[in-house]
Amino acid sequence: MPEPHLVAPSILSADFGFLARDVRMVDASDADWFHIDVMDGVYVPNISFGLPIVEAVARHSDKFRDVHLMTSRPEAFVEAFHKAGAHGLTVHVEVVQHLHACIQHIKRLGMKAGVALNPGTALSAVEAILPDLDLVLIMSVNPGFGGQAFIPGSLERIRRMRHMIDAVNPGIRLQVDGGIKPGNAGEVLRAGADVLVSGSGVFGAADPVAAIASLKRESPHTLPA
Ligand code: DX5
Ligand code: ZN
Repeated sequence: MPEPHLVAPSILSADFGFLARDVRMVDASDADWFHIDVMDGVYVPNISFGLPIVEAVARHSDKFRDVHLMTSRPEAFVEAFHKAGAHGLTVHVEVVQHLHACIQHIKRLGMKAGVALNPGTALSAVEAILPDLDLVLIMSVNPGFGGQAFIPGSLERIRRMRHMIDAVNPGIRLQVDGGIKPGNAGEVLRAGADVLVSGSGVFGAADPVAAIASLKRESPHTLPA
């Protein structure tokens, strides 16, 4: 029986004036993880937030905190994010100098280790590290901002990455991030993803709890609309 897919609302699209309320809403919903997007304005053209927000999420929910680092030198902050309460840490293959060492560091601290690939990055960039990973993140937008449109060519990249994962390390979670909404989640799952990130698709919905439930209800077997 294949494992059910996971839903990870991105708190980048939450209302930071009411962060505790939004975190508790996700906590009480069908969502599995919190996706926490850290941007430094150097690696990506936007600044989001850092360690104190991870700590704040941890104060209001025990759900898995999946931290996506879009920063230069992510390897310098592994320990700090662990202390702040990250359960999983995902770094970009394009920016880490010594990827193998960085992944071992993340795992040594007891966190799940993930590697993210931008839309323009060859999938082969993660091939050598697949045996060591817990998660691969295929970006379906260019990182930096919530609310962008899903890049259609991402579907073929998800299919190809699913084949690579199944051949080398089938336990890896395949996460997709950017432009996912209840309307396209089915095709993303059919392509082989098993963790759906959604920011504006959840927090921009009239009923975020219902949007999360509908992302959770989708299945690879749902027929296209
Ligand atoms: C983009 C971030 C995403 C973002 C997704 O750089 O990594 O996690 O929050 O937002 P939506 O779902 O609105 O595209
Ligand atoms: Zn993200």
